[in-house]
Amino acid sequence: MTITHKTEVKGKNGENWLYSENVKKHFFHPQNTFKSQEEEEEFEKNADGIGEVGSPACGDMMRMYIKVKNGKIVACRWKTFGCASAIASTSILSEMVIGKTIDDARKITPQDIVQKLNGLPLRKIHCSVLGDKALQKAIDAYEKKKK
Ligand code: FES
Repeated sequence: MTITHKTEVKGKNGENWLYSENVKKHFFHPQNTFKSQEEEEEFEKNADGIGEVGSPACGDMMRMYIKVKNGKIVACRWKTFGCASAIASTSILSEMVIGKTIDDARKITPQDIVQKLNGLPLRKIHCSVLGDKALQKAIDAYEKKKK
C-alpha cells in the first residue's frame, strides 16, 4: 500500500497504523459501555438525561446516558454503531465527564477529546463529534427534565 497522505494507514499490520496508543487502548477496551441489553435498560430507567445523534457524514449512531447528582455528572454510559474512532472518542469522553459539573461538561469540545486521545487521523475527526453531540443532547434533556 502506498502512503498518499499522513492520515492514511500505511501498512498491512497494526503496528503501522497511525492511531495513537490512547485511541487503540480505548478502542480495544472501551470504558462505560453496557455489557448487556438488561444492563442498558436498567441504567436507562434511572438516567437523568439521554442524547442520541446520527452522523450525517456516515449514518453512524450514538446514544449517551448521564446521571447527575448535585449538579455534577456522576455516571455516563453510551453505545454506538460508529467506527473505531467514535468508540475511542466516546470512551475517553465518558471518562472526562464523570465528576464534572454540567457547566464544565458543556464546555468540552471535540478538540479536547482529540487532544486527550493524543490525536486522531484528520478524516476521523468527525467521529469525535458524535459523542460530543450526544453528550450535549443528554445535558439538554437533563436540563429540560429539571424545569
Ligand atoms: Fe462514522 Fe467514524 S463514526 S466513520
